[in-house]
Order: sequence, then structure tokens, then C-alpha cells
Amino acid sequence: MSDINILFGSQTGNAQNLAHVIGESLGNEGFNFVVQDMGEVDPEAIYHMKEIIIVTSTHGDGEPPDNASEWMSFLKFEEKLHLTHINYAVLSLGDSYYPHFCQCGKDFDQYLSKHGGKPMVKRLDCDLYYEEEYEEWLADLIGVLKNRVQE
Ligand SMILES: Cc1cc2nc3c(=O)[nH]c(=O)nc-3n(C[C@H](O)[C@H](O)[C@H](O)COP(=O)(O)O)c2cc1C
Repeated sequence: MSDINILFGSQTGNAQNLAHVIGESLGNEGFNFVVQDMGEVDPEAIYHMKEIIIVTSTHGDGEPPDNASEWMSFLKFEEKLHLTHINYAVLSLGDSYYPHFCQCGKDFDQYLSKHGGKPMVKRLDCDLYYEEEYEEWLADLIGVLKNRVQE
């Protein structure tokens, strides 16, 4: 099985840390994975990926963190992307104090789906306290990934 790409968009480190925690959990389950800073990966590399997990925060007024802006523009403005080979999961970190709660994760979910990507689990939008929902979400995702390996 190819590596699962865990891509993070993060301004102040929270999503970055969580991406590594998710990686550790997947590693403990025997999956091969790589954790990558979105700012350091050419978005066109998505053509060579299969399973991707996007862990991103939202900044500004519903904007992506700086390191995720190139990926966001690519998915938003490229018209003929064929991403039917992509199975994805999105976990967004945000704060419901802001009017555009978790907008960046919502946008990634929308654009990946629009271009043919298939969600492995429903997107999780995390407010300040999210531990319990996160544990459930990760367990569901691991279940789906295990089934995929068995297919
Ligand atoms: C200046 C600023 C703007 C923010 N704007 C939003 C926003 O529009 N929507 C949202 O849901 N969260 C917003 N947040 C909250 C962050 O997404 C949240 O704190 C997140 O955990 C940061 O993760 P990071 O350290 O990976 O960047 C904002 C935070 C800051 C400091």
C-alpha cells in the first residue's frame, strides 16, 4: 500500500501538531504515512497521491493559513482537475467565535469533492474543545482505511 499523505495547513502550530499525532496513531496501526507541510509540497503532486488526510486551521476572515494558500488556489481555480483517484479526509481546526468557522476545511472538502475526490469519512470541524469527537472521527477513519487494505 502506498503512503497515506497527511497534509497540514497551519499558522501557529496546532494543526501541524495534530497532523503528527494522527500520523503516530496511523503508524501504530501499521499504516505507512508521511506528514507534509502543504507549503512544501507542489499541489500537482496530488496526481501521485491516493489517500490524503488534510488537517488545517482557518485564519484571517475565513482564509487558509499561509502555507495552505497555494493548495487552496490550485483546487479552487484549476478547472480540469481529475481527482477521482483520491480518497480524502478533512479535519479542520477553528474557533466558533469567528463568523467563518472552519472555512478553510470546508473549502478543501468542497473543492476535493467537486473534482471527483471521495470522502472516506465526514469532515470534522473542531472548535476549541474537540478531544472526544476527534477520537471518534479518527477511529472511523482507521476503520475505513483498514477495510480499504483488505479490498
Ligand atoms: C488572527 C486569527 C484569525 C482566525 N480566524 C479564524 C476564522 O476565520 N475561522 C475559524 O474557524 N477560526 C479562526 N481562527 C482560529 C484558528 O483557526 C485556531 O486557533 C486554530 O487552532 C489555529 O491553528 P494553527 O495553529 O494550526 O494555525 C483564527 C485565529 C487567529 C489567531
